[in-house]
Amino acid sequence: MSGFVLTHPTRKTMNGKIGARIASRMARRKIVARYTSMRNGYSRTAEVMAAIRALEQFQPAPRRIICDPYASEFLIRPSFKLLAEFGWLANPATRAVGVWAPGALEFLTIRARLSDEIAADMATDGLEQIALLGAGFDTMSMRIGGALRDVRIFEVDHPATQAVKREVMGRIGAPENLRFVAVDFERDDFVEKLREAGFAPGRRSLVVWMGVTYYLTAQAMTRALCQIHTLGGAGMRFAFDYMLKEVVKGESRNRDALNKARIAAKLGEPWLFGLDPATVGDYLAAFNFKLLKDYDAQELHARYCPERAMPMDYVRIVVCERV
Ligand SMILES: C[S@@+](CC[C@H](N)C(=O)[O-])C[C@H]1O[C@@H](n2cnc3c(N)ncnc32)[C@H](O)[C@@H]1O
Repeated sequence: MSGFVLTHPTRKTMNGKIGARIASRMARRKIVARYTSMRNGYSRTAEVMAAIRALEQFQPAPRRIICDPYASEFLIRPSFKLLAEFGWLANPATRAVGVWAPGALEFLTIRARLSDEIAADMATDGLEQIALLGAGFDTMSMRIGGALRDVRIFEVDHPATQAVKREVMGRIGAPENLRFVAVDFERDDFVEKLREAGFAPGRRSLVVWMGVTYYLTAQAMTRALCQIHTLGGAGMRFAFDYMLKEVVKGESRNRDALNKARIAAKLGEPWLFGLDPATVGDYLAAFNFKLLKDYDAQELHARYCPERAMPMDYVRIVVCERV
């Protein structure tokens, strides 16, 4: 699968200059008009994640946690687009986010970087397929497109979010090995939909599920883990992040975490599910997954950004293996 055609927008802008910019703005306005009027519009949190990765691009190279030149293409809100277009706005914005949500920029960019590293590492060892559950506006398929050229990538997400993604990817050039699978986790059987799209249980697999579990009910989480288990064979790797249970239950002493939980609820995407690190291994074992790693903020900080703020410590990242 070498047909990785990429029409990067910056190049377009350099060539077509003002005309291309105007066309690009008009295309985005069309998307806004279409999707903000939908009853269940695209995921605002997916857009926030893209905005965070776009902001990260203004960090000096040695401090940058992730290189994602595509993130800004997924920004719809005018305020986000301004931030991504004007570097002089990005730095104060980054500082403001750092004060408003300490460690959020670090954790949310590390999450994508770690996913890239797990995928790229497995790709050197025969990985055949990746399912990105709740992929949102993530661009792993392009960020590490070279490493994943022989891997089939399946992005699973809500149809409303995915409609926006497809439109943008169509414009900037989606890799040929990328497939979109539209699913509502609360209602649909995503395994069936993945199978129909070509995700085969016998192939070496990685399932990545970042930024999603806390939005599910406990029942939906149970159902999802049972389903994920059936996706691949023994040895299938599965990475996801989880919120601390004490935050979801409102019992945390971390006031920043509780404040962010309230904001998520106000945005219409409340945090519903969390786990306790002391029992996460047992929780996963009940679904026949063996815990390989449970990353906390300290470890992520030391590994990815020792000279920056501590990543937020109420979300953790788990890597496990199907037994
Ligand atoms: C916070 S975003 C994470 C996006 C991406 N993984 C990232 O880290 O940038 C959460 C994603 O979960 C998806 N999602 C939330 N609830 C869902 C549901 N019931 N069915 C399908 N997707 C859902 C949203 O559409 C959104 O793309």
